[in-house]
Amino acid sequence: MHISRKKTKLLLVMMTVNLFIFIVAEVFRNSSQSKRATSKVIVPTKSFWKKPLPSKAYWNLEQQKLDYIYNPILMATNGSRLELPDWLNDTEVSDSCDADFSVITKVNDYNSLPERFKDFLLYMRCRSYPMLLDQPHICKKKPFLLLAIKSLAPHFDRRQAIRESWGRAGRLANRTVATVFLLGTTTAVDHFPDLSEMLHFESSKHKDILMWEYRDSFFNLTIKEVLFLEWFSHRCPTARYVFKGDDDVFVNTHRMMDFLMTLTPDKAKDLFVGDVITNAGPHRDKKLKYFIPDSMFVGQYPSYAGGGGFLYSGDLALRLHSVSHQVCLYPIDDVYTGMCLQKLGLSPEKHKGFRTFDIEEKYKNNPCAYKSLILVHSRTPQEMIKIWSWLNDPELNCQ
Ligand SMILES: *[C@@H]1O[C@H](CO)[C@@H](O)[C@H](O)[C@H]1NC(C)=O
Ligand SMILES: *[C@@H]1O[C@H](CO)[C@@H](O)[C@H](O)[C@H]1NC(C)=O
Ligand SMILES: *[C@@H]1O[C@H](CO)[C@@H](O)[C@H](O)[C@H]1NC(C)=O
Ligand SMILES: *[C@@H]1O[C@H](CO)[C@@H](O)[C@H](O)[C@H]1NC(C)=O
Repeated sequence: MHISRKKTKLLLVMMTVNLFIFIVAEVFRNSSQSKRATSKVIVPTKSFWKKPLPSKAYWNLEQQKLDYIYNPILMATNGSRLELPDWLNDTEVSDSCDADFSVITKVNDYNSLPERFKDFLLYMRCRSYPMLLDQPHICKKKPFLLLAIKSLAPHFDRRQAIRESWGRAGRLANRTVATVFLLGTTTAVDHFPDLSEMLHFESSKHKDILMWEYRDSFFNLTIKEVLFLEWFSHRCPTARYVFKGDDDVFVNTHRMMDFLMTLTPDKAKDLFVGDVITNAGPHRDKKLKYFIPDSMFVGQYPSYAGGGGFLYSGDLALRLHSVSHQVCLYPIDDVYTGMCLQKLGLSPEKHKGFRTFDIEEKYKNNPCAYKSLILVHSRTPQEMIKIWSWLNDPELNCQ
C-alpha cells in the first residue's frame, strides 16, 4: 500500500533528522565539556513524548481526531493521510447537519443524559444553518467598532434600549460604530409565540438584525458564535474592533472608544479583553446550568472571557473564524471561544473595566461609578437608558 510506503519514507526522514540532532548535540556537549569539565549533563529519565491514548470522553475523543487531521507535521505528506491508529481510523471530518445517531452508542450514558445534551450531541457536527435575515451592507462604511449583541427574538425592548443608548449606530468619538443583533429562531417547539412578522418589521425598520434558522437555546450559543464569525469574515472583515456581548449588559461605549484609541498597533492586532476566568473546569453538579457530564468532557478549561461581553480586534476575529474549524463545538460558548484562542496560541487579557459580576450595590445608582467602567452586567432596558443619560450629561462632574 502506498500509504505505508509514505509512512516508511516519513520514518526514514524523521530518523535522519534525529540522528542529525544527536550529532549536533553531541558535538556541542563535547565542546562545552572540554571548557567546563565539571558541568553535569542532564539525561531525561522518561521518554520524550507520550503516544496519545483514546479519551473516554466524547468531546475529547472527537477533538483528538481533529487534532490529528490538522497536525501539520503528520499531514505534511501532500494531503494524503497517514495510516491512523486503530482507534482513529473511522475519522472523517464531517460537518453534516443530519442527526448523528452514532453518539447514542459512543457516549456511554447517552440515554440518561438531560435532553439538552442529547440535542447538542446529535447536532454537534453541524456548523451551517440558513440565514433568514442578513444586513449585507451594514459594514459599507468600514466600522471602527462593530457591536455584535446576542439577543433572543422576544427581547424587543432590550434591543430598542440598546439602540437608544450605548449601542446607537453612527458616529462616536469621530469614529464609525455599527451594531448588529444576533438571533436564532424561537419556535412553537419551545412554546414561543410566533414573532416572525414583528421581527421582519423590526428588521426592515432598523436594518440591524442577523437571524439564522437554528433553535436559539443556551447550548446552541456556540452555533451563534461560529455563525457570527462566518458572517463577519464575509460581510465585515475590515472592521477594526468587535465587541460581542449579551443584550442585558450596559456598555460604556465612550470609555470603550477611549480605550481602543490608546492601543499601540502591536497591542491592537491581538487584542482580546474581557472579564477573564482562569483555572476553571466543567461543573459536575447535575443541578447547575453549566453542568457537563464526564462522559462528554474531561480536563480543564483554558482561560476564557465571560460571555457577557468581550472586546477583540477584527483581525483576530478572522483568525478565530479560520481556527474554529479545528475545534469541536462545545456547549458553552465563552469556553469555546477560549479554546479557539488557545489554538491560536493566545489567551484573553483581563481588564478591570469589565464587570460581568456587577459592581457593589451601594454604587449602582451613582452616575460616577460608571464613568470609568467599560461593561456592567446585568441591567434592564430602563436602567440602560438612565445610565446612558447620566454619562452624557454635560453637568456630570465626577472627581
Ligand atoms: C506535492 O504536491 C505538489 C502539487 O500539489 C507537487 O508539485 C509535488 O510534486 C508533490 N510532492 C510530493 C512529494 O508528492
Ligand atoms: C479500523 O480498526 C478496526 C479495529 O479497531 C479494524 O477492525 C478495522 O478493520 C480498521 N479499519 C480500517 C479501514 O483500517
Ligand atoms: C474626524 O475624522 C475625520 C476623518 O476621519 C478628520 O478629518 C477630522 O479632522 C476629525 N475631526 C475631529 C474633530 O477630530
Ligand atoms: C441546536 O439547533 C439545532 C438546529 O435547530 C437543533 O436541531 C438542536 O436540537 C439545537 N440544540 C440544542 C442543544 O438546543
